[in-house]
Amino acid sequence: MSGFREEIHGREAGAWTVRDGATHGREVRAMFARISGVYDFMNHLLSFNRDRTWRRRVVARLDHDTWEVLDLCAGTGDLALEAMKAGRGRAWIAADFCPEMLEGSRSKRGAEQLRLAAADAMSLPFKNHSVDAVTVGFGVRNFADVRAGMAEIVRVLRPGGQLLVLEFFRDDPAGGGEHRGVARPVRWLLRTVVPTLGRLVGRDGAAYTYLPGSMDEFLTTSEFSALLAEHGFGGVFTERQTFGIAHLVGGRLP
Ligand SMILES: C[S@@+](CC[C@H](N)C(=O)[O-])C[C@H]1O[C@@H](n2cnc3c(N)ncnc32)[C@H](O)[C@@H]1O
Repeated sequence: MSGFREEIHGREAGAWTVRDGATHGREVRAMFARISGVYDFMNHLLSFNRDRTWRRRVVARLDHDTWEVLDLCAGTGDLALEAMKAGRGRAWIAADFCPEMLEGSRSKRGAEQLRLAAADAMSLPFKNHSVDAVTVGFGVRNFADVRAGMAEIVRVLRPGGQLLVLEFFRDDPAGGGEHRGVARPVRWLLRTVVPTLGRLVGRDGAAYTYLPGSMDEFLTTSEFSALLAEHGFGGVFTERQTFGIAHLVGGRLP
């Protein structure tokens, strides 16, 4: 029994929901609250700073004339702030169900322009068709019910709205091995080194066991792309990041 399963209610590989959504949400929120103080440092350390490039690539896909950008599962605000810095969007909402993570954005440059919202992606406190774009960086993997989260995103997006999701997806050997080449050893490192570094540097081994555990139990990019199409998104694309360690999947509503 892995630390991941002891700590967080996980999902069967490829399942849309976890067994107990309420418990899962509580545990995920508590875990991010615990690591909120070291989150940014650990992110940059564990990804060799690639996370910054990955977020820039998400932002580069946002329409030039987009207005309201909702960054869901915003954490410490880096993706929303990156959009702001790049001049994509005019208003930025950083929404997350963990206030401790959102607090981490406050000292960052431009943060005073962010609208912070304590919000659960399973039931968003925003009006129908109220935003032009939704970005989610390493968030959907944590959803207790991925379909419910997608339905909420579709509800708040305006017609023609963009969804851009950056994520660590489950390997898809049937799909030709998306994580071929160096991605395989790197993902092996994620499974072994990350929990150790998490324990030593982040002082929370369980939280950093959750990352590879949830990655292996999530959806593949093909499964996730199919979900976007099922929810009405067109022009669904997948963009490999750094040899397929992470992927950007996106689409647009009609
Ligand atoms: C791995 S962090 C990603 C933070 C940020 N997007 C980034 O790129 O660094 C995942 C974030 O998702 C949030 N989260 C997870 N499930 C959520 C949910 N159901 N509703 C809102 N936020 C959620 C967590 O609190 C955490 O801050």
